[in-house]
Amino acid sequence: MRTRSRSRGVSHMSVSADWRNPGPAPTEGPLVDTLGRVAGDLRISVIDKCNLRCTYCMPAEGLPWLGRDDILTVDEIDRLARLFHRLGVREFKITGGEPTVRRELPEIVRRICSLGPDLDVSMTTNGLLLNRLAEPLYAAGLRRVTVSCDSLLRHRYQEMTRRDALERMRAGLAAARVAGFDPVKINCVVIRGTNDDEAVDFARLAREHGYDVRFIEYMPLDAEQSWERGKVVPADESMAAVAAAYPLEPVAAEGPQPASVFRFADGAPGSIGFIPSVTRPFCASCNRMRVTSEGQFRVCLFALEEHDLRAALRSDADDAELERLVREALWHKWPGHKINHPDFVRPARSMSMIGG
Ligand code: 5AD
Ligand code: SF4
Repeated sequence: MRTRSRSRGVSHMSVSADWRNPGPAPTEGPLVDTLGRVAGDLRISVIDKCNLRCTYCMPAEGLPWLGRDDILTVDEIDRLARLFHRLGVREFKITGGEPTVRRELPEIVRRICSLGPDLDVSMTTNGLLLNRLAEPLYAAGLRRVTVSCDSLLRHRYQEMTRRDALERMRAGLAAARVAGFDPVKINCVVIRGTNDDEAVDFARLAREHGYDVRFIEYMPLDAEQSWERGKVVPADESMAAVAAAYPLEPVAAEGPQPASVFRFADGAPGSIGFIPSVTRPFCASCNRMRVTSEGQFRVCLFALEEHDLRAALRSDADDAELERLVREALWHKWPGHKINHPDFVRPARSMSMIGG
């Protein structure tokens, strides 16, 4: 039941023979790599800290947090967002760590949202602080939010996040709805033997509240390196479980997106999506880039290399120089991660340090 073409988002420009030896990057036109992928989606992490300790992401004691001077200032984030906007980026995702832990978040959102009317700005959050922040974030211009939630059972949520916070998260979800966020998405990372029996419960939640639930395959990005292939629940398996309880109909994809999205055949609100990051990587049509909270530019979630935008920003580089750095880095973007190859090398950073 594949619902979208994997080649969407790939431009028709000519393809260079070898991404390892690509020659000079283009100096104008869209942000492109040697494989013709046009990058139009930037994920900006605004802080490395988090108020949860999800086992698939962080160690119980947390990580050595960055200092205040290490992370990009609001002005620096603003400058980068402007630059990427000028280079054609229209999709911005605000991530962390946990973005709501950063005090200046509403101001950051306001600045990004004011870049233009044609933007798609969203935020990934664990939802714990949305009860307080949903309204100010909406007022700042944010309209879409994705809340991470991997279990609807109190004890299991606590086991997975190491905090007894299911009710706070649920209150945050509800607050997002009340504030007017639409869509309200839920990201659920499915782990074999941990929460792989809850797919139908999540589907019921989607139906009851009109949420868009996305089941994500577990990726090797946990800080404790306990990922194993056997813990990955294939998206097809989650889909079969949901479809057996609630018949599904495919929804046509809008632009490049990794999820196969379905609505409920009986017309119930909400939607269900499946993100097969491990079993069917979407690298061939990937249009994403990332900036970590300390201003490192990453052209792939699994990149082993980073490009120091902060150093450039703080050495008074002009925009032309920043642009060169970005274009050059992206031009070298590899075809994709190699989770499924024997020579796969995990990035040294975990998800919280990279930013979803
Ligand atoms: N595998 C898959 N998804 C992950 N996330 C965090 N760590 C992992 C992992 N190891 C998800 C979070 C959040 C998003 C930013 O990334 O659940 O929704
Ligand atoms: Fe925090 Fe998100 Fe990592 Fe969980 S997955 S510890 S919510 S950064």
